[in-house]
Amino acid sequence: VNTLALRWSLDNKPHLSVLDQQLLPQVEKWIGIHDCNEMIAAIKALKVRGAPLIGVSAALSLAQSALDGSSKEKLLHETAELMAARPTAVNLMNCVNRLKKIILTNLRPEVFLKEILIEALAIAQEDFELCDRMANYGAALIDSGDSILTHCNSGALATAGVGTALGVIRRAHELGKKIHVYVDETRPLLQGARLTAWELDKFQIPYTLITDNMAAHVMSLGKINKIFVGCDRIAVNGDFANKIGTYGVAVCAHYHQIPFYVVGPQTTVDSKCLSGAEIPIEQRHADEVRGASGSFGNVIWSQENTPVYNPSFDVTPAKLVTAWVLDTGVLTYKNICEGALK
Ligand code: MRU
Repeated sequence: VNTLALRWSLDNKPHLSVLDQQLLPQVEKWIGIHDCNEMIAAIKALKVRGAPLIGVSAALSLAQSALDGSSKEKLLHETAELMAARPTAVNLMNCVNRLKKIILTNLRPEVFLKEILIEALAIAQEDFELCDRMANYGAALIDSGDSILTHCNSGALATAGVGTALGVIRRAHELGKKIHVYVDETRPLLQGARLTAWELDKFQIPYTLITDNMAAHVMSLGKINKIFVGCDRIAVNGDFANKIGTYGVAVCAHYHQIPFYVVGPQTTVDSKCLSGAEIPIEQRHADEVRGASGSFGNVIWSQENTPVYNPSFDVTPAKLVTAWVLDTGVLTYKNICEGALK
């Protein structure tokens, strides 16, 4: 496995490492992940982030733990701890549950290790392929001359492939379409300013960074004609959770009649979740809102005891979505009402 943000080599001894996304873009530092506890800490600290990448990384770290000789009891404990690391992105639960099924079987030790390894590698490979398919379906919705707004980071840093929403944008650029991207900075953790801008720069896609509270104004000036965002969980009625601020973007898009597309793979669909109201929303530490942290250290600019509300995600209702770009194709609201996600 060798992606923009995740590497796993099996040469002599399994070796898993991740690009520390908290330090980007100033510092590009790879950190070794030696056990599931280190992976859990990396996921909680958003060193590893993005719904699909969290799922793939958790699966690989469980496989590494099995190869390192962990008992079944320990592996089951680790599955529970990994799944609790971030509650909103359902890819984490979907991927870890695939390995849990194997852990719960009574296979001979060599067969068990082989099965778990095959499954973990399949999860990574599948994510790569899902991204590729979404990119092709989504890029067909983009025309030369489009000016596109995106929120958070949904690119190669967030998946094992080209990404979801940002993957679509990148594919359109690779196909020679002349596009411009407006990037929401994405407070509080600045995934847009730090990560999406870094990726767009790396792939030489023209872009402009704006703060989140500029998006409505930029739309009112007619500077945006399409919006693409990723997602962390899609309910069967089409409601979806994504990075906090996405709902506001969708409301503004609706007002300005700008097509609003959500891009996500099958691994982000929660078939047990009937509507967005059932999606658990992660609450994070108050200091993320009181200030900021990164390669520059930790800065607090409000009073240290300022009361804070810090939901990490919000839910966008299906009615505000123009179309859902999945790895299986592009769905309309009518398709969803007819049960396409059930
Ligand atoms: O908190 P993060 O950085 O993990 O949030 C990421 C997002 O909200 C992305 O848009 C989502 O995971 C889709 S990424 C392919």
